[in-house]
Amino acid sequence: MDEEQPSSPPHHLRHRHHHHHRRWADLVNKTFNKPRAFIILLLISFVLGYLTHSQPVLSQSAQDLLDHHTFSPPRCGDPVPPAYVRRTVIDRVFNGTSPWEGFPPPHINSLIMQEWTKGWGSQAPVFEHLILQAQPKIIIEVGTFLGASATHMAGLIRKLGLDAQILCIDDFRGWPGYYDEEKSLKMVNGDSLLLYQFMQNVVKANATDSIMFLPFSTSTALGGLCEWGVYGDLVEIDAAHDFHSAWTDINNAYKILRPGGVLFGHDYVWVGVRDAVHLFARLHGFRVRIDGEHWILY
Ligand SMILES: C[S@@+](CC[C@H](N)C(=O)[O-])C[C@H]1O[C@@H](n2cnc3c(N)ncnc32)[C@H](O)[C@@H]1O
Repeated sequence: MDEEQPSSPPHHLRHRHHHHHRRWADLVNKTFNKPRAFIILLLISFVLGYLTHSQPVLSQSAQDLLDHHTFSPPRCGDPVPPAYVRRTVIDRVFNGTSPWEGFPPPHINSLIMQEWTKGWGSQAPVFEHLILQAQPKIIIEVGTFLGASATHMAGLIRKLGLDAQILCIDDFRGWPGYYDEEKSLKMVNGDSLLLYQFMQNVVKANATDSIMFLPFSTSTALGGLCEWGVYGDLVEIDAAHDFHSAWTDINNAYKILRPGGVLFGHDYVWVGVRDAVHLFARLHGFRVRIDGEHWILY
């Protein structure tokens, strides 16, 4: 007996299946013979494919970049009145005792020079231009080194009769290879003594009343000012000059720029600085003005 395989459908179903198959083949034939129908079918499958696509529209790496592009926190603290800024820094950074008190201690006195300074464009006309323009109460300098530009600004403030404080941010360590170039200060047990020499230069310039400092990395110091609500009317960027450092400093500094304040910086000739300045200006709708070696956002 011709036994049917258990998996084969009965005869009448096999007939229907055959019939369906032919209708489907006819439809495909007709469709492919009519260009317009073919194109519509193609478009529908493209749209359906796009809508049901499981991948995000942005690549994962672009999404990662976007997720990390903001400099947190979204908002800094409520503004401390300018008259309380110096006190705030002394309290927060130096546990309530001014670092100028009793400086220099005897053991440091013999290690540093009465005055030894060095700078790059530290007395450029831009400082006077911007201090006249902004009439600042609080100036924040990101990158101070031995205080050449800070003491210059202190002199201008005095000359112009302004009541302003200059907050200097620097880790006062120099940079790798710094001693090879300078060979001026001793190094004591790995301490470059730059902080003490900077302090001595400020004492010598008779500017301790208008200069206060935060001896930390730029990100840490700017983050602290942001948290405490310390804002600057004039903020100068002059720390490291590679793109990533300049980009981070500019973004962190912008957070603590008082509305209407001026953000500017040195070393426009460095490609990293220039790229960071222009990218920031483009994203935030600023224009860039050049004054000597300095850039200014306006
Ligand atoms: C070009 S010097 C500043 C010069 C100073 N503005 C002047 O004109 O006299 C740069 C300074 O930035 C400091 N610096 C660079 N990167 C830093 C960082 N990430 N945190 C703290 N200080 C930094 C260096 O220690 C150095 O003293």
